[in-house]
Amino acid sequence: MKVVATERSQLLAARIAGALGAGVAEARFSRFPDGEHALQRGALDGETVVVGSVVDADSLVQLLLLIDACRDSEIRLVVPYLGYARQDRAFREGEPVSARAIAGALGRGVFRVVTVHVHKETVLPHFGAPARNVTLEAAIAEYIAGLGLTEPAILAPDHGALSFARAVASRGGWEAEYLEKTRISGTEVRMEAKNLDARGRDMVMVDDIISTGNTLIAAAKMLRAAGAKGVHAVGVHGVFVGGALDLLRNAGIREIACSDTIESGSSRFSAATAVASALSR
Ligand code: R5P
Repeated sequence: MKVVATERSQLLAARIAGALGAGVAEARFSRFPDGEHALQRGALDGETVVVGSVVDADSLVQLLLLIDACRDSEIRLVVPYLGYARQDRAFREGEPVSARAIAGALGRGVFRVVTVHVHKETVLPHFGAPARNVTLEAAIAEYIAGLGLTEPAILAPDHGALSFARAVASRGGWEAEYLEKTRISGTEVRMEAKNLDARGRDMVMVDDIISTGNTLIAAAKMLRAAGAKGVHAVGVHGVFVGGALDLLRNAGIREIACSDTIESGSSRFSAATAVASALSR
């Protein structure tokens, strides 16, 4: 078995290979003169684990090319971050179901698919191949425990993320709560805490995606105003559009941690063990 990855997923791929005891095949990406992506991959043997997060259009094209270049082997596709998953239905007449379009294109010709904290598991059948989603509660709880906080509360920024917050909190014996999130526009959200006394306590917000950061910034401002001692943020996928990271820090969030599904200076825990274990089953 060999593991091979797109440019943005090399580090996680190497960690998955390490966890599987598999080799890494080279994938050399370049550009044609008109800007189109080109690829030359190294030798494979039998089964191939293809790893690629869909972070932007370039990473999507690279992943499609890589899958095609590996078509003669049995492909296990790992999509650590599936971009476009939030458009999982046509919210208005005339819109695409983008998650279906992207997953359908990626799943063609692959044997199995593994995703990490996909925004909604209802997207998985769109791959058209057996797909499973892995979650990182264990790695996140270990990271939070390492912060050495006294009785932190684990907060979901909306009700939909409460089961995730509870799963993390139960591993550390912490309290889990959720905030009421109202999305005012694509870039503006309002947060309220219903059942939470934040005074003098450390709050750790957990979310699947940190994109513009607006969700967590609004939550952090509210928590600080409510007297929280420290506000920390853990996102599985750190998309960090524009200056999101600076904005999050300016909002007074002390620690901002993400996994390596999208590699960045904020990657503090890895999806490799969970992915490798799903691939081994
Ligand atoms: C929303 O449903 C997601 O779970 C995240 O809360 C959201 O995508 C975060 O986006 P942003 O950082 O742009 O507020």
